[in-house]
Amino acid sequence: MLSQKTIDIIKSTVPVLEVHGTTITTVFYKNLFEAHPELLNVFNHANQKKGRQQTALANTVLAAAKYIDQLETILPAVKQIAQKHRSLAVKAEHYPIVGEHLLGAIKEVLQDSATEEILQAWGEAYGVIADVFISIEKEMYDEASNQVGGWSDFKRFTVVEKVRESDVITSFYLKPSDGDKVPAFLPGQYITVRIEIPGESYLFNRQYSLSDVPGKDYFRISVKKEKPGTSPDGRVSNYLHESIQMGDSIDVTAPAGDFTIDLDKRTPAVFLSGGVGITPFMSMVHALAEQTPERDVQFIHATDNGHLQPFRMELTELGHKLTNYQLSFVFKNPSEDDKNLPNFAKQGYVDKELLSSIVKPEADYYVCGPVPFMKAIITYLKELGVDTDKIHYEFFGPAMAL
Ligand code: HEM
Repeated sequence: MLSQKTIDIIKSTVPVLEVHGTTITTVFYKNLFEAHPELLNVFNHANQKKGRQQTALANTVLAAAKYIDQLETILPAVKQIAQKHRSLAVKAEHYPIVGEHLLGAIKEVLQDSATEEILQAWGEAYGVIADVFISIEKEMYDEASNQVGGWSDFKRFTVVEKVRESDVITSFYLKPSDGDKVPAFLPGQYITVRIEIPGESYLFNRQYSLSDVPGKDYFRISVKKEKPGTSPDGRVSNYLHESIQMGDSIDVTAPAGDFTIDLDKRTPAVFLSGGVGITPFMSMVHALAEQTPERDVQFIHATDNGHLQPFRMELTELGHKLTNYQLSFVFKNPSEDDKNLPNFAKQGYVDKELLSSIVKPEADYYVCGPVPFMKAIITYLKELGVDTDKIHYEFFGPAMAL
């Protein structure tokens, strides 16, 4: 329990943190990796370079400071972060290391303004916040390892099949190398893939959504090959596409994530995805086809052209199972052939006009894709009167806001 005095000190430092939050976390990461370079095997180096992780951590520390006496308010956000931590095998013993360097960074940046009293209060507050994370993560580790076929940290899987889905997306089918069962998961969840790239000093971790339905004897991930140099994910996705072949092994963690679909619902489900944002929806729509084939399903996917459209056959064939299903492809730059494809809906973007023609008040909307795509769609849906609790979405990469 924090004393009222500690709570008051923490709350009074929020304005200072608002000014210096990102500087503090930048200093924090620099010092952390100097003292513990082995943690570069855990963190995403590309996110570090772009400063995204710094912002995510700064936001969370700030939110925690504001709500330090009512941490239950930010529990949903904590759980989402804990899912990410669990999927990266973050351990309880890492927390004191992070705490020590966070406090050190506060001291370094605030200098004389960081009095002993303030540092003491932050030390206590960090302990309380860390305990919340540690206990939630412990439950998640227990749950992951108690499942049939489950495990706790990383486990070796073998690539049993590699399938080209479009000019830029390739699926990898992964089976446990020890021949064990694959655990159940919720459609929409992701796994972390850890790979060693020859010539690189540290391991690379990336999260990929599972793109097939649960209950198979494999996991499927579908990876977009980013243009080298244009995206932080280019290093790993290019290595997977070019160097990882059938028979190779990679390490993965058990499925995690809370962007899932309620399979017990009977409301219409509208899937709106752009580019590789389609992957979690492949799992969801397959699950609907198996469990509630009569559910009203609209599946709209936007990409540049037909060559970049993944899963065309697979999505079309779902029409044999789903009895109330509409599939639409939106291409920004379609060729004449693309325009003749059976489910070609329009040239351009998923815009407000298109959405207004399909909006149903009782429907649930699932949105995933590049950030500008998601922002536009979510804005249109709200403008069209859709309740925010009916709009479900996931940003790939570190959560930028709580
Ligand atoms: C991701 C906060 C402790 C390692 C994140 C994210 C936040 C966050 C907000 C972004 C979540 C997302 O991507 O959706 C915190 C807070 C902590 C804490 C408030 C302390 C109370 C730790 C510890 C470790 C750790 C102890 C391990 C050394 C990571 C890693 C990621 C992450 C590896 C993924 C992002 C990346 O790879 O760059 N954390 N974290 N965190 N956290 Fe933490």
